[in-house]
Amino acid sequence: MSDPIILRTQKDLRGQIWEWRGQGETIAFVPTMGALHEGHLSLVRLAKKKASKVVVSIFVNPTQFAPGEDFEAYPRTEEADVEKLASVGCDMVYVPRKDSMYNAHHATHIKVGGVAENLETDHRPTFFEGVALVVTKLLNRVAPDYAVFGEKDYQQLATIRRLVVDLDMPVEIIGAPIARDDHGLALSSRNQYFKPDGLDKARKLNTIMFDCAKDLQNGADIATATQAATEALLGAGYSSVDYISVACADSLEIKEIGKVDKPMRLLIAAHCEGVRLIDNCAV
Ligand code: PAF
Repeated sequence: MSDPIILRTQKDLRGQIWEWRGQGETIAFVPTMGALHEGHLSLVRLAKKKASKVVVSIFVNPTQFAPGEDFEAYPRTEEADVEKLASVGCDMVYVPRKDSMYNAHHATHIKVGGVAENLETDHRPTFFEGVALVVTKLLNRVAPDYAVFGEKDYQQLATIRRLVVDLDMPVEIIGAPIARDDHGLALSSRNQYFKPDGLDKARKLNTIMFDCAKDLQNGADIATATQAATEALLGAGYSSVDYISVACADSLEIKEIGKVDKPMRLLIAAHCEGVRLIDNCAV
């Protein structure tokens, strides 16, 4: 497969998009923060099935990191990323510069309510504002027909679906299944922070989550099953659990007691060896 075009300015991006549009091409977009792994490549493969051209952005977005989070340490591996993207037939890699995304006078913020409340927001209060802002800017710049996001960040996916409907953005959002390693650990750029024994511990999360989901499916009480899963994680060496919650699959309204009685999602965030892991599955 041929190498993707690499563009860094909005002017070049716009020129290329117009050229493709003039040729009748359709465009699917996969926004990323780089440090690409098989999970990202699965998003690109899905994007390729949807449109004739695939654009991937690489931008470590400062506005979605809170002070004290790993913005500076976040892995930046552009060369390796581009090689991986070439192997799956990505047509263009857009790598905007930080000052072109956020100029010194930037003063616009986007706050999504509803699905963006609770869960992650209880622990990372400004995260979805940062995501909504950068995704809006990237969608405005790339103007794709489709944009693909992983279900691993389930609440992020729901937030972006809400955002594009509420702001009349002419793009179809596509959710892609979670890619997992051979032990079921959801792939994440942050997994590379683990030492080998940390990785063994990290891999307990999905087992505990799927066991909990099975119990819920078999009629277990939500409070009892999620409490048991919390204890199992702490017993497996996790230092803390931010949440293990059951929420309506669409509205993300949390159900704390009773049984699962409609399509719901089990969502987890927990800390293991200094790394914050998130995962989720259908119930
Ligand atoms: O999921 C991510 O990698 C990021 O939150 C995204 C959507 C690329 C926005 O920076």
